[in-house]
Amino acid sequence: MIPREHADDPREAAGRQPSRGATSPDAAIDARAALIRVSLAEAVAARCSVRRFLPDPVPHDDVEAMVGLAVRAANAGNAQPWHFVAVEGEDLRHEMAEAVHAALDVMAGLPECAGRGRAIRAIRTHATFFADAPVVVAVFVMPYASQADELLVARGLSTDERDRLRQRPDLQSLGAAVQLMVTAAHAMGYGACWMTAPVLAAPAIEELLAPPPGARLAALMPIGRPAGRLRHSTRRPLDEVLSWR
Ligand SMILES: Cc1cc2nc3c(=O)[nH]c(=O)nc-3n(C[C@H](O)[C@H](O)[C@H](O)COP(=O)(O)O)c2cc1C
Repeated sequence: MIPREHADDPREAAGRQPSRGATSPDAAIDARAALIRVSLAEAVAARCSVRRFLPDPVPHDDVEAMVGLAVRAANAGNAQPWHFVAVEGEDLRHEMAEAVHAALDVMAGLPECAGRGRAIRAIRTHATFFADAPVVVAVFVMPYASQADELLVARGLSTDERDRLRQRPDLQSLGAAVQLMVTAAHAMGYGACWMTAPVLAAPAIEELLAPPPGARLAALMPIGRPAGRLRHSTRRPLDEVLSWR
């Protein structure tokens, strides 16, 4: 059964009292975040994924400022279905990468994956570089079910049918937070990369990081001062991705 959490109907959310320890928008913008002087447009447009990092440590205050901005994201029913674990220990980072290698080794050995060595090698490169960043933030999605989800379960719809009608508001909420976080990292002079390839080793990484009960690994985000030049990727033109009716 899906645990009952919040409705993502904003009218319901509006009636709820703020929980203890809740932060107002002003409180969430801590002193360091307030020092960010780049415009939103610059931060969004100039951000790019960074995959090589200098070893300089990232102060806790800076990570807290990034997470403090990330949790201001719009999210379904204000359920805030996320949890963040910041990993600084070099040994632990490397154990996480080893878990990803092990998951890929298992895949490479499966008869169904025979002849796919090249794809597995490419994934390996893009799934393990996080270990060399001074800090890696693991992002977990927490159990979430709105009243709409419960109604669809009660109607007996399959997971596929429910996903067709709901499109995972929990993961959409998480994505909004992660995008804010990588943007905040860039605005503070850091590089970061939103990574889901390491989620292939989710069970092992969850065991290593011991997140709260029910938390599921959704992404890793290595953060550090960028080593080398920023490389910006291109985007499809607007008239390809925007239609008017
Ligand atoms: C959901 C998601 C998952 C991603 N996973 C990975 C990953 O596992 N490894 C990686 O190197 N990059 C990953 N990326 C980064 C993308 O490759 C990158 O955002 C894209 O190529 C556009 O480049 P830019 O971020 O520099 O603009 C991911 C990005 C997103 C949004």
